[in-house]
Amino acid sequence: MALEVITLQQDILNTFRVSISTENAIEKITYKNTVLSLLASGDGTEVIHHKLPAGHRWALNPEDGWNALEFFYILSGSLIWKHEDGERKLVTGSSVSAQPVKEPAIFFAEEDTEFIYVSSQPVFHYYSKAVRDTMELAVSVEKKDGYTSDHCQRIMKFSMLVGEKLNLPSHELVVLNLAAFLHDVGKVNISDSILRKPSKLTDEEWLEMKKHPLYGYDLLMETKFPLLEEAAKIVVQHHERYDGKGYPYGLDGEKIHLAAAIISVVDSYDAMTTDRVYRKRLSKEEALQEIVANKGKMYHPIVVDTFLSLSDKLN
Ligand SMILES: [Fe+2]
Ligand SMILES: [Fe+2]
Repeated sequence: MALEVITLQQDILNTFRVSISTENAIEKITYKNTVLSLLASGDGTEVIHHKLPAGHRWALNPEDGWNALEFFYILSGSLIWKHEDGERKLVTGSSVSAQPVKEPAIFFAEEDTEFIYVSSQPVFHYYSKAVRDTMELAVSVEKKDGYTSDHCQRIMKFSMLVGEKLNLPSHELVVLNLAAFLHDVGKVNISDSILRKPSKLTDEEWLEMKKHPLYGYDLLMETKFPLLEEAAKIVVQHHERYDGKGYPYGLDGEKIHLAAAIISVVDSYDAMTTDRVYRKRLSKEEALQEIVANKGKMYHPIVVDTFLSLSDKLN
């Protein structure tokens, strides 16, 4: 891990400490006496204040493909940083920067410690138990739904590419990120006999199947977690169509949230290029042709154009 440890002078440290207040945090998460406060968020960068009681640990688990710049600054107390090559003590006033973080790292608080964590990728929402639980549920649905693996991850990744290309503001990107991963979580309420039926669904079964966006909405709203509540409003629209012939509400055009319109295109593409119980997968070219043929019908025209412009990045 490329790391650099710098110790700031006492006067700079004091100025920095005074300017940090968790009073006006955007969001706070408390678990096992650890308090995380999101102080600032913008352009994918997050500033998170951590309060770690003596004897507690905090783990940083980089995901595959992670390329974030991580910066830690110890405001008070001291941490033992355990990394792949050993361990290192971080005292008050020291800061550490690392990019990219490829290996998991554990931070152990020797005493009550406060530190600032700056990441160049949005990570805050992943810490919340509500989000972790819901994401686990979405992965279980993916299997139940007959996807081999990584459907949710792929939808998230490509939705983000489209969202970024469309210059969505960073907060909307964070919500899109969650909504994309969780788009089909409501299928947890749909029986396996419907989800995995190899033949055509009966009218009654189809009616039930079409309720999954609503089930997903309810499930996410029940968490009472603000970001998931925002994601719920997108999840409920992921099967709406640009021409108004979608479900559950039959919304059309710009009445459909842009994030939902993005997920719709990405999800359809991924479903078409994956083997399903009821049909074999299409080639990339066939799937893209299908998307283009439905531009302005099923799909938002600008989203389709943006998606096509990214086609060299698709599998
Ligand atoms: Fe769906
Ligand atoms: Fe899906």
